[in-house]
Amino acid sequence: MKPEILSVAPMYAPTMERMGRELTVHKLFEATDRTALLAEVGPRIRGIQGTGFSPVPAALIEALPALEIISVFGVGYDGVDAAAAKRRGVILTNTPDVLNDCVADLALGLVIATARRLCTGDRFVRAGKWLHGSLPLSTRVSGKRLGILGLGRIGRTIAKRASGFDMKIAYHSRKRVDAAPFHYYATPVELAANSDFVVVITPGGAETRHLVNEAVMRALGPKGILVNVSRGSVVDEEALVKCLREGTLGGAGLDVFEDEPRVPEALFDMDNVVLEPHVGSATHETRMAMGNLTVDNLVAHFSGKPVLTPVR
Ligand code: NAP
Ligand code: 8YV
Repeated sequence: MKPEILSVAPMYAPTMERMGRELTVHKLFEATDRTALLAEVGPRIRGIQGTGFSPVPAALIEALPALEIISVFGVGYDGVDAAAAKRRGVILTNTPDVLNDCVADLALGLVIATARRLCTGDRFVRAGKWLHGSLPLSTRVSGKRLGILGLGRIGRTIAKRASGFDMKIAYHSRKRVDAAPFHYYATPVELAANSDFVVVITPGGAETRHLVNEAVMRALGPKGILVNVSRGSVVDEEALVKCLREGTLGGAGLDVFEDEPRVPEALFDMDNVVLEPHVGSATHETRMAMGNLTVDNLVAHFSGKPVLTPVR
């Protein structure tokens, strides 16, 4: 008998198929009557597979008496009520490190796309406007001051990329990283005031909600560019729209939003903004690695072995 698990959200298709071969998977996200599915299979469910932001609330955790493990396809796990899982003694795993490169690539991509107005240029050529004139000048990237808000696994990978562009790197996180050769600022406002570009790459959740507020955006200033590849909740989106509209912030490159997939329409007409639909880790290679790690954690646990990447 294969262990039975509940999938609350789909992940990379080939790894979803692998999970189906190795375990008995009940897809809650496809169920027309979720209550009926849970009533039928709930008592036998020993694992949950979720994604970086799919909700796994306390009520679901408590409704599954045989639950042993929650395996998240993503490094962020802010959709999971981790405290409820801990109370029940349920193991929580995520997929750290395997996505560092792709998320860092996208972060630098957004810095360059926003500063150099790549999407504006693309629209300009496609609309036939080049025949009638040239694009206004943009902003240099190489050699600029890059502030990293959250010098963790992905933040350090972003720093590596940025040093290839001869950038002067500084950071803020709650604790100073002794081994890091970069300038530390004690607050996000000080970091922003001393940066040309700020990349946000902290976790989401209550602790970081609106860490990037209007004061941080004003400190970054009319020539500054904010890039967010963390979670939408970390940036005060209303303040962001206001600052961009007023010109107190120069531009923004955004992969994540407060109410995904809904994006404030006010951003749609702004040429100093580049918008992406949460694709930091969205390459075949990285999604395959994330999916395999998600399944490996479940399989290890059900084989009586330690999980590979426990959250704590
Ligand atoms: P990590 O290694 O845990 O790094 C997180 C960093 O944020 C640490 O430097 C941490 O330092 C800092 N931090 C945490 N809370 C903070 C606070 N309140 N104020 C200031 N700094 C704080 O995590 P990671 O693997 O780099 O991933 C970071 C996040 O990226 C994930 O949690 C996820 O939300 C997001 N992500 C997004 C995508 C995407 O597709 N866009 C993909 C992957 C990940 P201190 O503890 O010292 O504060
Ligand atoms: C994914 C992410 O988009 O790892 C994370 O925290 O946000 C991304 O890698 C997500 O987990 C897949 O649904």
